[in-house]
Amino acid sequence: LKSIAVLTSGGDSPGMNAAARAVVRTALYEGVKVWGIRGGYHGLLEEDMFEMKSRDVSDIIQRGGTFLGTARCKRWKTPEGRMMGYKHLTDRGIEGLCVIGGDGSLRGASLLSKETGIPIVGLPGTIDNDVWGSDYTIGCDTAANTIIDAINKLRDTASAHRRVIVLEVMGRNCGWLALVSGISGGAEYILVPEEEYNLDEICDNMTEAYKKGKRYILVVVAEGAGSGQEIGQYIAEKTQLDTRVSVLGHIQRGGSPSVIDRVRASQLGEQAALALISGLSDIVFGYSKGRVVSIDLHDAVNNKKVLDPDYLHLAKVLF
Ligand code: F6P
Repeated sequence: LKSIAVLTSGGDSPGMNAAARAVVRTALYEGVKVWGIRGGYHGLLEEDMFEMKSRDVSDIIQRGGTFLGTARCKRWKTPEGRMMGYKHLTDRGIEGLCVIGGDGSLRGASLLSKETGIPIVGLPGTIDNDVWGSDYTIGCDTAANTIIDAINKLRDTASAHRRVIVLEVMGRNCGWLALVSGISGGAEYILVPEEEYNLDEICDNMTEAYKKGKRYILVVVAEGAGSGQEIGQYIAEKTQLDTRVSVLGHIQRGGSPSVIDRVRASQLGEQAALALISGLSDIVFGYSKGRVVSIDLHDAVNNKKVLDPDYLHLAKVLF
């Protein structure tokens, strides 16, 4: 292909900038025109797009967020919306599109490709790490490190007061963030949407542990496994232990990307541009077992990722 475009869509994630930068610079290196679309699919519908030069992606690799802007776009869920987006691409001679985003954004990309045949390559960009076929999504490493930083601080105050601290972290349908941050932060309990838990049993264990001299307890809850506030309140009432709740919220989405996120996002961006240029389509590039892999776009959106059973087991062993 001779002209491609890139957009970021859905919840932003640290490293999206590095990915978009790599798409742009790879395309230019290969002598291919590259367009940036601002504000995700919404921007495509509004024709908010511009042809990019190398300098347009200067000074962004270290920044969180996405310089292109992003959105969750309702109109893109309709076939009419997608046809309009397709027209706005072809009007400019754009022959292929790179979509950087999470599950919902890749689903939108999969539909556009099926309906119009335009070559599409997706990159998994979400802190949730919930894209099927890939061990990794752009931004998950930085977000996990942000959570660890919070856990370290919460431990200090929890220990000082002998408190139970419940920390609610992001992850609507996926407990990956809670699981890895809970393991690496040494949490006593990790609650994820993928696994059932018995709060009464947990409360009984907590009471026993305190009787034996435990100083404090940390519970990490993925938002998809329940509300931190409600769980904290239940624990406080049932155990009568001094309990506090922290909801980390959108802090997890921001911040300068980690080395891992920058390097991987750059590699994935390069692969996406090269694939589009050579006419490939319906691929998501991800990571598996430490290597870049290509995943069928439709498989990626039609399958649900499962949490690594080894991690789940480890969490139980280390408890
Ligand atoms: O998908 C990423 C994510 O951060 C989820 O973990 C969270 O549930 C959701 O986005 C929050 O979305 P919004 O930024 O639209 O409130």
